[in-house]
Amino acid sequence: MEHDQPITRAWVLHPDLKSDTTRRDAEPALEEAEALAAALPNLEVVDGSIVRLPKIHPGMLFGKGKIEELKAIFKAAEIELVLIDGPVTPVQQRNLEKAWGVKLLDRTGLILEIFSDRARTSEGVLQVEMAALSYQRTRLVRAWTHLERQRGGLGFVGGPGETQIEADRRAIDEQLGRLRRQLAKVVKTRELHRASRAKVPFPIVALVGYTNAGKSTLFNRLTGAEVLAKDMLFATLDPTMRKIVLPTGDEVIMSDTVGFISDLPTELVAAFRATLEEVLDADLIMHVRDISHPQTEEQAQDVNAILHNLGVADEAPMIEVWNKIDLMEGDEREAMLTQAARTDDLFAISAVTGEGLDALLAAIPDKLKDPRSEAWLHLSFSEGRKRAWLFEQGIVTDEQQDDDGYAMTVFWTALQRERFARL
Ligand code: GTP
Repeated sequence: MEHDQPITRAWVLHPDLKSDTTRRDAEPALEEAEALAAALPNLEVVDGSIVRLPKIHPGMLFGKGKIEELKAIFKAAEIELVLIDGPVTPVQQRNLEKAWGVKLLDRTGLILEIFSDRARTSEGVLQVEMAALSYQRTRLVRAWTHLERQRGGLGFVGGPGETQIEADRRAIDEQLGRLRRQLAKVVKTRELHRASRAKVPFPIVALVGYTNAGKSTLFNRLTGAEVLAKDMLFATLDPTMRKIVLPTGDEVIMSDTVGFISDLPTELVAAFRATLEEVLDADLIMHVRDISHPQTEEQAQDVNAILHNLGVADEAPMIEVWNKIDLMEGDEREAMLTQAARTDDLFAISAVTGEGLDALLAAIPDKLKDPRSEAWLHLSFSEGRKRAWLFEQGIVTDEQQDDDGYAMTVFWTALQRERFARL
């Protein structure tokens, strides 16, 4: 997206649906949605409001009175774009856009915009494009079924006809196929890169955490690198890696990752996971938390749940980093520092003032999982599966073919050595 485009005036609505028993507290949810919106360039979030919804109105989402009330507000504030923090059907979208005279984006649409603005690696870009297309495709399908039902009834003037939708779907399917093939290529290239990285005998420390926890700030502070760190969410969509030297003289690679977020629309889970690939390889996971955030516990639970789903939770060792300790005062601050001092896997720091960083860095070498060591193997031609496994792990540093098979040099951990023996 161009950054010198004119500014669009936006309003954020958080629908608080009574019947949704899993719903989150409305106030912080609205705040987070506003922060998400602010992450988009060329957008001015004028204000936001919570709309209590006793029930969903199928065609318009909100009730008539509410729509009129909001219309007056939007007009007075010269709003051009309304962001709705939740799902909106295509029909609701069209009707609301018409009623309010604005453009409208729902939560998935908003996060997709952010992802596409932030994606940096070719894999990230492709994943986001695929998610965007799949999203559009479901909307076409839904619009279409709706038209079917409505035929001869209300009649949605201006809505696309069936043939047009069929053609659009075919075009989308073709493009999805193209993207999938491209993605396969990119993934292969990345595997090669990973294999070459295995030649660098440094353990990887991955920073993970809820969006805005301060990962990029910490990463920059530790590495002296210039990663985009602004007061905006998703400053990092794609992983970034830098080598640092610890006070002990040990060297590790720090890896910054995309921020986590709760209520991630399901269409976006794959795109999001692709950006977390590096975490799976990590020798140590640093879970960075904004300890000053009122929802810090809920955020931590979300992050842990996602890590668990990715299957990393039980593999690599993990430490918790309580960031933004500089924002805490008095007894609360003292209690946190005491708890961190007493707990082995807990560190209280400030990425901004630098407080607590020395202790954190000094502790890293002890926390790293098994150090890696070099080994020489010989595999016969019939052991293709084992050979493929070694490449998959990205631990092959050299390979020579001879008359009987392959002479290989690998650089692996004790865990990998055991797994290989069990193959
Ligand atoms: P995503 O890219 O969205 O995942 O965010 P992130 O976790 O990388 O957060 P980032 O480093 O961009 O920091 C978010 C905001 O918190 C910025 O405004 C930082 O200046 C601020 N921040 C980070 N660490 C600290 C800290 O230790 N103390 C204070 N007071 N602010 C901090």
